[in-house]
Amino acid sequence: MIRLKDKEFSDIVQYMRDEYGINLEKKKVLIECRMSKILERYGLDSFAGYLDMVHQDRSGEMAGEMVNHLTTNYTYFYREADHFERLQDAILPELLGHSVSGTLDIWCAGCSTGEECYTLGMTLEEYKRIRNVTLRARILATDISGKVLDKARDGEYPVKELEGLPPEWRRKYCGDTSGRTFRVDEELKSCVRFQRRNLMEPMPASERFDIILCRNVMIYFDRISRNRLIKNLEDALKKGGYLLIGHAELLTIKETNLEPVYPAVYRKKKE
Ligand SMILES: C[S@@+](CC[C@H](N)C(=O)[O-])C[C@H]1O[C@@H](n2cnc3c(N)ncnc32)[C@H](O)[C@@H]1O
Repeated sequence: MIRLKDKEFSDIVQYMRDEYGINLEKKKVLIECRMSKILERYGLDSFAGYLDMVHQDRSGEMAGEMVNHLTTNYTYFYREADHFERLQDAILPELLGHSVSGTLDIWCAGCSTGEECYTLGMTLEEYKRIRNVTLRARILATDISGKVLDKARDGEYPVKELEGLPPEWRRKYCGDTSGRTFRVDEELKSCVRFQRRNLMEPMPASERFDIILCRNVMIYFDRISRNRLIKNLEDALKKGGYLLIGHAELLTIKETNLEPVYPAVYRKKKE
């Protein structure tokens, strides 16, 4: 294993915090263990050399790979189910009012391998069916890691992952499930646009959303980065729009226009 020197460790900690908001202050051993193999793959014998390469890589792919190895991409279908129920029972009716048709812009921020945005797609399909409304949803799903986005775009998952989904949804949206893997319904996939995006950077003003899901992402962030992220998310929300965060996450809403409405759900004030 390649040893991580103190100066290299503090450089990596600072880089990951400044660029991606991720706090690795207590993760020296984790960095050493998880990154050594990658360094070897690049033919490097020091972390300083690796960090130089990351700095020089303008595509951002190497940095994404580093984030990928130092955080978890853990996710699953229908995670934190009450959010999807709340969407159907309260949030979507509130946003759409009495109209029988509408368009919604939704952002899955930190989407990992796609289970979250596809669950969302299924939720919207069910809402349309049950309420008999025409709803056009434009879902943007973003992550810092190109690798997880490739998986998400592909939309193929082990059959074991179906366990969390209601049986009827499996039948409707998960194609042939008799093998070891299944593919998410093509129509569902066509509602989602995937993009590599760093959440520390503000969303361009041309993109504003009715609903943002940013769940189980800020758990790795320190207070300053979390506040930066919340500001970016708040700015990206339309007035009256909803922000859904992980149930284990804490949001400091002082100095924001966000108000808590349900557990782990906030709404941007209309005024
Ligand atoms: C644990 S997963 C959460 C996935 C999904 N939202 C869920 O709740 O199941 C966290 C994701 O956040 C992404 N992430 C971490 N820091 C990021 C950043 N600065 N910009 C964009 N994505 C980031 C990671 O790559 C990872 O895929």
